[in-house]
Amino acid sequence: MGMRKKVFCVSISFSDKTDSTMTGNDVSRALTTRRTFLKRGGMSLALLSVPQMGRHRQVVMAKPVLDPNSLTPFVDPLPIPPVARPNDFRPSPDGGKQKAPYYRLAMRQVQSKVHRDMKPTMQWAVDSTVPGPTLETQSGQGMFVEWANELPKAHFLPIDHSLHGAEAEKPDVRSVIHMHGARVPAAADGYPEDWYVPGKSAMYLYPNMQDAAMLWYHDHTLGLNRLNVYAGLLGLFIVRDSFESGLNLPGGKYEVPLVLYDRFFDQNSQLYYPVSPVAGKPWIPELFGNAILANGKLLPYLEVEPRKYRFRVLNGANGRFFHLSMSSGQTFQQIGTDQGLLSAPVTVKICSLAPGERADLIVDFGDHSGEQIILKNDMLLPVMQFRVAKGKVNDESSVPSTLRPVHKIAESEAVKTRSLMLGEITDLHGDSVTMLLNNAHWSMPVTENPTLDSVEIWELINVTDDAHPIHLHMVKFQILDRRRFDAFAYQNENNLLRYRGNPMPPEPSEAGWKDTVRADPGMITRIIVKFEGYVGRYVWHCHILEHEDNEMMRPYDVIAKS
Ligand code: C2O
Ligand code: CU
Ligand code: CU
Repeated sequence: MGMRKKVFCVSISFSDKTDSTMTGNDVSRALTTRRTFLKRGGMSLALLSVPQMGRHRQVVMAKPVLDPNSLTPFVDPLPIPPVARPNDFRPSPDGGKQKAPYYRLAMRQVQSKVHRDMKPTMQWAVDSTVPGPTLETQSGQGMFVEWANELPKAHFLPIDHSLHGAEAEKPDVRSVIHMHGARVPAAADGYPEDWYVPGKSAMYLYPNMQDAAMLWYHDHTLGLNRLNVYAGLLGLFIVRDSFESGLNLPGGKYEVPLVLYDRFFDQNSQLYYPVSPVAGKPWIPELFGNAILANGKLLPYLEVEPRKYRFRVLNGANGRFFHLSMSSGQTFQQIGTDQGLLSAPVTVKICSLAPGERADLIVDFGDHSGEQIILKNDMLLPVMQFRVAKGKVNDESSVPSTLRPVHKIAESEAVKTRSLMLGEITDLHGDSVTMLLNNAHWSMPVTENPTLDSVEIWELINVTDDAHPIHLHMVKFQILDRRRFDAFAYQNENNLLRYRGNPMPPEPSEAGWKDTVRADPGMITRIIVKFEGYVGRYVWHCHILEHEDNEMMRPYDVIAKS
């Protein structure tokens, strides 16, 4: 029952060399842009058709999965991840009088219910919840976090030992936590090779010299990251500052974090991670689960008052893009993005978030007293329900018409422009084998080495037909533009750049400080970055975790000024 794939490329004969022995030429010849999954006989398969980025893709499931539509929706209240409390205060290493809070957060295997009518699900939690406790600090207030690995010795998700960094001789259970969006010295960044095993821990000092923003922490272990995050190792980190606190935005219980991600569950309420049909190589190029969770619950509800709320939304999914809207037809006022406040609120009807991106949204329930409103994703699928109380309340919060000025970095400040291709290698069948940044594997020598405090333009040249959310550690950046180009000519005529349209500015909701940018297919996405912070080795990568785990991640060095 072979469902043949379409291969949209010149994909000439592609030998069966493995990815690690391919030369640059092989790579560009084999770069194709499309694959689907093989559907093999002999397995009992559930076939799911998952819409993503405007088209359909077949995903083969080796096991029947739970259908969330079979559950009663909106029976569990939306949990709010607990705010972490310091265990202690310790002298900060800069010798100042101020002591820094010290947190010890342990990763543990837990059993918890994601829905009233499901059995407890085994997950890997930070502390005891998924998402883990929310860390909070003031800008400039440093903190110590000891991330302790107290996980069991065995992994419960399918490790692919053929991936770089996940070789069979390495222990199955390893972790290292990265603080996404934080400006931290390299030693505390959670470098993917700095993993450690159960019984060990890492002590990181986060200086937090940055503006108010909602950051997040998650596992970053080389070759395992997609599985460890899927298992539950993620949580929020909110940096506040006096500027933002002075704005009178909805706060306290009217500020609600919302961590969204998708999963599959088996009939026994346990997490299920699909595998490829290739024996010994379970890696799959993307995962789009049929169950969408909000703060770790499936289809929860939140009781709200008829007034303004501030929702701090994270797309914490492995690969799913969210396109959120309200069943009431009301709009969101977006006030912030990855790295904090926009210069002014932007009205959005649909809030789009790629994996790793955040949105700071104001929702006004003031005109909706007594209503039940559904937060929806694509295809109008429900994510959660808001139950607006009846009556009137006195809402003293406000949303100013200007927020924090975002000073545009001038292109003329850039000392260098790097052209970086986002590519994909497929096999003869059009199945994805690996994803690469500029044709380079993780283990190849560092090629991106900006100087501290210098400004660079990075052009992300996407020749695949997936959108890739590209994230740079340590820095924040601005999006310059996106421009359609001829990907075929680029790949087949020696990097010939033939534009197919005019440069398009970022959407208003993206025109602030970012740390993750959607590089759309067939487009060149340009970002401008000032490498402010620290000298040392960091990484940049695609935030689709399946891609990141299969070579779509590269080290980069911030080097000292000479
Ligand atoms: Cu969200 Cu390299 O991380
Ligand atoms: Cu990061
Ligand atoms: Cu990608």
